[in-house]
Amino acid sequence: MTAPPFALFSAQREASVRKKISGSLARFERAQHSLAGGVSTALRRSARPSPLYFKSGKGSRITDVDDNNYIDYTLAWGPLILGHSPEPINQAIAAQLKLGHTFGAQHDLEFEVAELLKKYIPCADRVAFANSGTEIVQVALRLARGATGRKKYLKFEGHYHGWDDSVLISYRPTRAQIESAHGQPIPVGTGQRPNHETVAVEWNDRQMVERAFAEQGHDIAAVVLEPMLCNSSCLPADPGFLQFLRDITTKHGALLIFDEVITGFRLALGGAQQHYGVVPDLATFAKAAGGGLPLSVLAGKAEFMSLIAEGKVVHAGTLNGNPLCLAAAKATIEELAKDNGSVYQQLWANGEKLRNGLEQILRHAGLPVVATAGGPVFHLSFAEHPARTYRETLSANTALYSDFGLALLDEGILALPDGRWYLSTAHTADDIEQTLNAIQRVVEQPI
Ligand SMILES: Cc1ncc(COP(=O)(O)O)c(C=O)c1O
Repeated sequence: MTAPPFALFSAQREASVRKKISGSLARFERAQHSLAGGVSTALRRSARPSPLYFKSGKGSRITDVDDNNYIDYTLAWGPLILGHSPEPINQAIAAQLKLGHTFGAQHDLEFEVAELLKKYIPCADRVAFANSGTEIVQVALRLARGATGRKKYLKFEGHYHGWDDSVLISYRPTRAQIESAHGQPIPVGTGQRPNHETVAVEWNDRQMVERAFAEQGHDIAAVVLEPMLCNSSCLPADPGFLQFLRDITTKHGALLIFDEVITGFRLALGGAQQHYGVVPDLATFAKAAGGGLPLSVLAGKAEFMSLIAEGKVVHAGTLNGNPLCLAAAKATIEELAKDNGSVYQQLWANGEKLRNGLEQILRHAGLPVVATAGGPVFHLSFAEHPARTYRETLSANTALYSDFGLALLDEGILALPDGRWYLSTAHTADDIEQTLNAIQRVVEQPI
């Protein structure tokens, strides 16, 4: 492969970006003296050339402290399904602000939002609220252990289910880590407590799942998965794989848990379970559920959720179900549900147009681009072959993609460093066209 222009010129791109972001650079330098790492969550540190500081966002656009305006495809790592600062959410929050931020007690928005979720999410006989995706996955796993009396759960390599020790396992291990682990689950950082509860297998590998159940089925309380592997290259399940998981968990008396923190409200109003037509026992939601405010949801079948209702499985939290977040959630769901959810057609059409356009331009420029998934969330990488499993994603050229990201930033396009692209209902055909023109400039006009 001949080296592409933006790889050759990444030093110039970096210099060009640095000139435009002096305000961000100064702030990051200052922040590191008081804030551990200078950022509020570890991944943000990896931004190239430096973490940016933002002052406002509206619709599909975000503006940094140096007044650079970007078309935003990061959407705060997923939550902003309606774009930045949408009026219906602003009004709902403003109205609630006057009435009180939090009561630590019951209020009408709790059952109003619960009823909406029940209406749209196939597995939602009952729901429970918390504040983050990490927390709600823990509630789901505790519920599965409580319901089955078993200790272990099965997860897939490359899937992310939050930062708790119990699930921060075999998430994006390096090749060397995989080789030295000899099939054992791999913790991500130091300080994690020893893990004896996780059975980690490869995504889309039926035989590994069958073997795990044959050997340890009596001990496996649940299978938890991202129904589309958004956290590692947006790898869809192979045809029939989700149904296979539905069947094998039912057969062995284990629960099937869809972690819909990303796919929820994004692939469809009822999440991946609606989109793919496979209904889990429990499902977790966060990100888009709160439209940008901290909210997470456990949705599940009545027979399992009854353990929470009866107080046998503890689910607790001071700020759970607080009215500000639920006001935002209600406004978000009502917006998405308008006209029978017709906004999803636009979301999918725009996403496909963008993905196809990007693929075409980059391929035409001689790059081995691979695009996976589509519509409201998709992934781009530079690789010779499409991947089906996490391990196969390891052959992608991430350094080249990083240079590409830098060039995009220089052209006013903000995208996530890992190759994931998120669309909101606020992105217009004009945004897509401007983005594709910018990519064309990237590949045609080395600076
Ligand atoms: C699929 C999935 N599950 C769980 C989480 C954890 O959610 P949170 O960051 O809200 O704790 C994430 C976060 O990105 C996620 O993508």
